[in-house]
Amino acid sequence: MSENTKLTIPRIINMKRDAKKIACLTAYDFAFASLLDKAGTDIILVGDSGAMVHAGYKTTLPVTVEEMLFFTRSVVRGVNRALVVSDMPFLSYQTGKNEAIKNSGLFLKHGGADAVKLEGGEHIAETIHSIVQCGIPVMGHLGLTPQSVKQLGGYGLQGKNKSDADRIKRDAVILQEAGVFSIVLEKIPASLAEEITQILDIPTIGIGAGPGCDGQILVTHDLLGLFESFKPKFVRQYANLSEIITKAVSSYCTDVKNLTFPDKKESF
Ligand code: KIV
Repeated sequence: MSENTKLTIPRIINMKRDAKKIACLTAYDFAFASLLDKAGTDIILVGDSGAMVHAGYKTTLPVTVEEMLFFTRSVVRGVNRALVVSDMPFLSYQTGKNEAIKNSGLFLKHGGADAVKLEGGEHIAETIHSIVQCGIPVMGHLGLTPQSVKQLGGYGLQGKNKSDADRIKRDAVILQEAGVFSIVLEKIPASLAEEITQILDIPTIGIGAGPGCDGQILVTHDLLGLFESFKPKFVRQYANLSEIITKAVSSYCTDVKNLTFPDKKESF
């Protein structure tokens, strides 16, 4: 099969078997999704981080199913190869199995996504099982789960002590048994992420979880230097687009005000 054909869930799972690392990033619109897809990203997550970096909310909590569906459709239109996974927003799946099935189905039926992602461990496993039974692929998310930020009291490292680490390990196995095709491990010690990765048959995707995971994900706005509010230690910033864009826009504003744009060549 050509490297350029659309990625599927079985192909993503096989990447773990074949020891091929999985490169994942977030996108919320058509332009970024097209660029990420062309550049070879394997999984594009329409993350609810878009609530913060794209829509300007303070946390991920306010974003709605309708807003996430709009982001998802915009991303799907830009993607040929990557697997598109959509985040289920806060309170779209915690309130009961039927609601969770209905909402997750919308992301495939009306959003065009390939899969959905839900945060949480044992307490959400039965719901995940029901969603998977309907033919909807699910990605899990353990460790730092931003939808629980109010309960966690912030965005700190998770799984620091033995009982928390054991719980995350147990949750990972429970999620695999519930049918998830992969699990995001966010902001946990590298040794714990590596241990979980070795225990599981499905791929782990790390963010702030060290190099031992089967894949890595970053928020694209962090990687490109577009989100200036805070910069987590685990982010590697590959470009400073904030600076580039600010300079370009300020040059444009100056040109307009100085009457040097548009010139004759740019006019009819
Ligand atoms: O919402 C998001 O972007 C995420 C990733 C950080 C994993 O959940």
